[in-house]
Amino acid sequence: MISEHGTTPAPDRSGLSRRQTFRAAGAVGVGALGAGTLAACGSEAEEAVESAAGSASSAASSAASGAADAIKAADVPVGGGVVVESLETVVTQPTEGEYKAFSSVCTHQGCQVDSVEENTIRCPCHGSTFDASTGEVLTGPADKPLPEKSVTVDGDGLTVT
Ligand code: FES
Repeated sequence: MISEHGTTPAPDRSGLSRRQTFRAAGAVGVGALGAGTLAACGSEAEEAVESAAGSASSAASSAASGAADAIKAADVPVGGGVVVESLETVVTQPTEGEYKAFSSVCTHQGCQVDSVEENTIRCPCHGSTFDASTGEVLTGPADKPLPEKSVTVDGDGLTVT
């Protein structure tokens, strides 16, 4: 599946350092999306993402500064989505040709959401789910929606800011 990294942290054992590792893997995925996986590795892709982020020291700061990164539209399944941890972003396609993007940081306690299936974004830590069209909470314990981001289609790529 496209949103599976094969390295999803255990809910309560993941420390910040592990999470940062996953972000790095996600950063690689942005530049090397292919064959439906985000777990590809390659330092060139990571450098490209860092470059696109204006040499920002973290994905959070790049997102905050409005930096943009391209994601292949074809890698976002209808009814599903792609989690780009390096950008703290989840991109969804609720209906064909309609793309949405939200913060991938769960509003409960800050875990990264890790999957999107059947138009539902899931957080692995405590089970919160969010509507992939609106970011609204479907099931708690989260009580606030995922903040929406801007996503634009550019050819066969998506730009999230
Ligand atoms: Fe997401 Fe608790 S951090 S449900």
